[in-house]
Amino acid sequence: MINLETNLGRLRLENPVICASGCFGYGYELADYTDLHSLGAITLKTITPEPRNGNPPPRVKEISSGILTSIGLQNPGADFFMKNIMPKVKEACKPNQIIVSIAGNTVEDYANLCATISEKYGKGDIAAIEINAACPNVKLGGGAFCSKPDAMRELLSAVMKVTTLPVIAKINTNYDNTVEIAKVIEESGVDAIATTSTPLGMSIDIKKRKPALGNIKGPISGRAIRPIGVGKVWDIYRAVKIPISPSGGIYTTEDALEYIMAGATAVEIGSAHFINPRASLEILEGLKAFMVENGISDISSLVGVAHK
Ligand SMILES: Cc1cc2nc3c(=O)[nH]c(=O)nc-3n(C[C@H](O)[C@H](O)[C@H](O)COP(=O)(O)O)c2cc1C
Repeated sequence: MINLETNLGRLRLENPVICASGCFGYGYELADYTDLHSLGAITLKTITPEPRNGNPPPRVKEISSGILTSIGLQNPGADFFMKNIMPKVKEACKPNQIIVSIAGNTVEDYANLCATISEKYGKGDIAAIEINAACPNVKLGGGAFCSKPDAMRELLSAVMKVTTLPVIAKINTNYDNTVEIAKVIEESGVDAIATTSTPLGMSIDIKKRKPALGNIKGPISGRAIRPIGVGKVWDIYRAVKIPISPSGGIYTTEDALEYIMAGATAVEIGSAHFINPRASLEILEGLKAFMVENGISDISSLVGVAHK
């Protein structure tokens, strides 16, 4: 018997494999391509209070070992999400798999949206709310929280006042003071830290002699950033006790194990899904096989093992 149960604070998952926000749609669209119910959780595409059109196209450029994107949090807004999307999500996924990701321009935006979601969906409806304080692309708000401890404190204090649901704070670790930010997150009482480590980059379309992205620069996701992400998880694990749920270049079981051994309690699979919608499922199967082959009965015994 192997035990994959994973606790992210109050959030209890059947296993540690999570689909990262924005790389798995709203989950239900992928139902024909993978076994949704086997996954640990699905973090839905981030929603904001009002609809957003996102950044100008082109928004995606494949690069060696990764992907450059500049989506700009395109989404249909909270009202449309609750009315038209959530019913489909609830039909396709189990309540304890659904993580609703939110963002806004201001602290008030986040707090109001967090309150709205928490009033509409209780513990029997969704598993957690993820506060997306990570997006480096949105001109207002977003990434600012990841580098400014006071701003992060204010943001998390505001959202924690308006919800009793488990809360995950997602940050971009692309700043020098990530450990300080992680400590602020821990002090705020949230259940877990989700990380992404997407530095801004750019590419030139040499035929058009122009930047390949409409927004000129965009975050780099994919295999290229995995060593950055693993290093950040290593640092955060040494600094705080709350669970870490990183994304960043996890394409295989071995990638997931690297993160877990560096200190990740769960792993978030992002752009790997664009190549293979079953990536999360295959990583989960690989984790099970690794545990059986190595006589490991509980996945939690691997968390941070490389520090010992
Ligand atoms: C096309 C695209 C859209 C994304 N949208 C979101 C989003 O809405 N909210 C969010 O928190 N992260 C978003 N992300 C970031 C991913 O969740 C993830 O943190 C990042 O891609 C790093 O993981 P990866 O290297 O496995 O792709 C997006 C990433 C991509 C590539």
